[in-house]
Order: sequence, then structure tokens, then C-alpha cells
Amino acid sequence: MYAFTIDESSKADLYRDLHAALDALTDGEPDAIANMANAAALISQYLPDLNWAGFYRMVGGELVVGPFLGKPACIRIALGDGVCGAAAKTRETQVVEDVHAFPGHIACDAASRSELVVPIVHDDRLIGVLDLDSPSAARFDAQDATGCEALMALLAPRIAG
Ligand code: SME
Repeated sequence: MYAFTIDESSKADLYRDLHAALDALTDGEPDAIANMANAAALISQYLPDLNWAGFYRMVGGELVVGPFLGKPACIRIALGDGVCGAAAKTRETQVVEDVHAFPGHIACDAASRSELVVPIVHDDRLIGVLDLDSPSAARFDAQDATGCEALMALLAPRIAG
């Protein structure tokens, strides 16, 4: 059993402790699926107000769903499609306050209102994206973006294969 001490009193504390927990969880483990699964579980457990948390992986030039917690999701997403495809194509984090206002948003769960997608890059290679959905509008801010980018910078070499 893993027991982490996560200080949730501020976002800065939360992301600092999540980074340490993710480091401990994935340190020395070479299996990408194991590391993505534990990362999704950790994020889903400690980030409040999410209805989907997980990964899409770059496989054969498109995004393919990976380990996640949430409702069953669309399996394949072409580069440039939806929020995930936009993050993958531009390699820039996407913070979407209202998914209904995002052109081409792919609805996997009708409850989703806002979304954060972070590209995962290692050695200039796009490994995939982290996708977080929330039922609340404007759930994610710049601190969530930088916090999750730091988590993915840590994880990238541990899921690069
Ligand atoms: N909404 C995403 C698709 C993936 S689901 O949210 C899990 C998108 O527009 O890329």
C-alpha cells in the first residue's frame, strides 16, 4: 500500500507534494503502462472536481487512449482534432474554460465542462498527452497548467519506452 502525505491547503502545496509522490511511485519502474496507470490514479485521487483523468498516447501518428479513470472514452483522436489533438499538434498546453465553446471538442462524457490537456514530450518526441476533464466550468487555471506540466516533465522519460 502506498500512503502519501499530500498537503491540499493550497495549489502550490498540492502540486509540490503530488510531484514528490509521483516521483516516488514511478522511480526505477521502466513499464510505461504501470507508470501512466499510477499517475492517473494519483491525479484522480488528489485533484478535486475531475470526472476524467488519464492519458492518450501517440501511436502510429494518432492519439490512442491509455490508462485513465472516468467513463469509457473515444479510442483514437487524430492530430489536430479536439482539445487533445490541438495539444498534440501544437505541443502547447490547452486550458479550456468551457468545452462547449471549443471548436471541434470531442465529447466523451456529457458532464465535462472544462478541460486541461498537457502535451508530454521527451527528447523532442511527442509521447502523448495528459487529459483532465471537470464537470465545473473554468476548473483549471494557470497554476494547474504549470503544476501538471511539471508532473509530465517528470513522467515523460519514465513512459518514453
Ligand atoms: N474531450 C477530449 C476528448 C477526450 S475525452 O475528454 C476523455 C478532446 O476534445 O480532445
